[in-house]
Amino acid sequence: MPQPGGLAAMVVGAWLAATTSAAADAPTGDATRGAALVASRSQGLCVLCHAVPGVPASQQGTLAPDLAGAGARWSAAQLRERLVDPERLNPGSLMPSYRRTDGLQRVAPARQGRPLFDAQQLEDVVAYLATLK
Ligand code: HEC
Repeated sequence: MPQPGGLAAMVVGAWLAATTSAAADAPTGDATRGAALVASRSQGLCVLCHAVPGVPASQQGTLAPDLAGAGARWSAAQLRERLVDPERLNPGSLMPSYRRTDGLQRVAPARQGRPLFDAQQLEDVVAYLATLK
């Protein structure tokens, strides 16, 4: 037998779930810092594999999809997922995980247990990619 108020609680619960997931999907990082990380050849290294808008062709990779339009193809949550663990989406992916630290091979001792990006850097890169529409 449903409790009085059960339906209202369900409606509020569904509303909360919807608004929380929408909030989780909104990029909260700094897109300018993200752009610098993506173009950087010492930190993000995205340009080793990807073409990135605004980066000279001679300094871009051709091993991976052009990141132009990535923000139109993917939601912020999907972009985040791609950076956190590309192998979960494509087990043979060339793309490194920017947040995972376990199950990796041939990690230099000084880098062990340290993800490529910290949580803020990840959010900054997601915010930048989301602008690539
Ligand atoms: C060693 C190569 C490599 C590096 C470095 C790399 N990626 Fe990738 N990335 C790939 C490949 C290959 C794919 C295609 C999907 C797959 O094979 O998993 C991909 C896919 C993607 C996608 C989805 C592409 C699309 O729109 O269809 C995004 C977004 C992305 N990468 C962002 C980045 C960002 C941002 C960085 C740097 C922080 C980065 N990648 C670094 C190889 C790389």
